[in-house]
Amino acid sequence: LPFTLLSLAFGYLLGSIPFGLILTRMAGLGDVRKIGSGNIGATNVLRTGNKKLAAATLLLDALKGSAAAFIASYWGVEAGIAAGFAAFIGHLYPVWLGFKGGKGVATYIGVLLGLAPLMVLAFAVIWLGMAKISRYSSLSALVATAIIPVLLYAAGNEKVALLFTAMTVITWVKHRANIRRLLAGTESKIGDKG
Ligand code: G3P
Repeated sequence: LPFTLLSLAFGYLLGSIPFGLILTRMAGLGDVRKIGSGNIGATNVLRTGNKKLAAATLLLDALKGSAAAFIASYWGVEAGIAAGFAAFIGHLYPVWLGFKGGKGVATYIGVLLGLAPLMVLAFAVIWLGMAKISRYSSLSALVATAIIPVLLYAAGNEKVALLFTAMTVITWVKHRANIRRLLAGTESKIGDKG
């Protein structure tokens, strides 16, 4: 139990670092929460027009999840799962930003990398395929996160599958405004400034 609590605290602390906000601020581009969708994630950082900054946000928001899960796994599978989940929650609900964080996609991928690395390939293939067809970042993430838990169950990785089922549900809830816009045909496409 002490290790589980430690893993949760450690994961949350890492996950709650808002890299999108920090990087855009450091680059002198202002507050990313005041542009586009107002989200702090890579998709919205891309709306500043700075591709490198968006890529760095994706990478760092992902790696904080990988690091949390991977390091805590030293204490066992359960500790790794606890830390990964806490990092994801930390990204979505960072105490430093009044609990108004991101939508979780990059950190989802990062935790996946820490706990079931091969599944990141499946995520990438689905996401890139959907993005090529639709040009919607949100739709690509919604489809990829819907399929990953199914693949994890099929692979017999039950504890991790359960974790990702929960993370998928939370990701979808966080994307409810995006889902409404997709249904209304008003969602902005990758590379659009809106
Ligand atoms: O899944 C991508 C999601 O993060 C969309 O971001 O800024 O378009 O709401 P945004």
